[in-house]
Amino acid sequence: MRIDVLSIFPSYFDGLTLSLLGKAQDAGILDLRVRDLREWAFDRHRTVDDTPYGGGAGMVMKPEPWGLALDEIAGDVAAGEAGPPTIIFPSPAGEVFTQRTARDLATREHLIFGCGRYEGIDERVFEYASQLGEVRLISLGDYVLNGGEVATMAMIEAIGRLIPGVVGNPESLVEESHEDGLLEYPSYTKPASWRERTVPDVLLSGNHAAIAAWRRDQQFERTRRRRPDLLPSDDAAQS
Ligand code: ADE
Repeated sequence: MRIDVLSIFPSYFDGLTLSLLGKAQDAGILDLRVRDLREWAFDRHRTVDDTPYGGGAGMVMKPEPWGLALDEIAGDVAAGEAGPPTIIFPSPAGEVFTQRTARDLATREHLIFGCGRYEGIDERVFEYASQLGEVRLISLGDYVLNGGEVATMAMIEAIGRLIPGVVGNPESLVEESHEDGLLEYPSYTKPASWRERTVPDVLLSGNHAAIAAWRRDQQFERTRRRRPDLLPSDDAAQS
């Protein structure tokens, strides 16, 4: 998979060279290219923002650098380097990102993330980008960050780990919170007794069917308690 990121703070993404995603890049499974949007701002100060038409607080990102940057990256597509891109703009005004979104985006050949700052990006950029690929405005959740960088990092990590070959043991992907619509069951390791707290007996029993049933119960119990919104309303009502 190819991922391009456009940001005025490219060093945010240095962390993505670490751990599993770093290895995936070394192995050629993930081709991650982070570019500074100011490369496409040509005045003396490399300006990327201006005051909003109609007045109001804050600044808005100018359309011209975005247009040129997207043209150049989409130009790679024309040269046959990658398939038609999915262009994602992180935004608190977008659809909410979930594991389902991550699974969907992990099947794409080419993602472009456009990280906005300030009060946002000139609306015409989204319209223009939709001529180059599928445009998605995606929110990490109902709270406001200072820009799209942290949201993009979270999304790249959630998507990247679903690309085949990135996580060594694919079974570990299945047993995670949200993969089956429930929260994950609790995990324990040695020692069996620690600071007067013991591991549940069933996990030491060697009875695999009993362990599986206990884990499933725990998943429902935790989900009912912490995230009843994830359960069909009948299941949630039984709590
Ligand atoms: N930019 C600012 N806040 C955001 C959020 N909640 N999700 C995605 N991008 C954002």
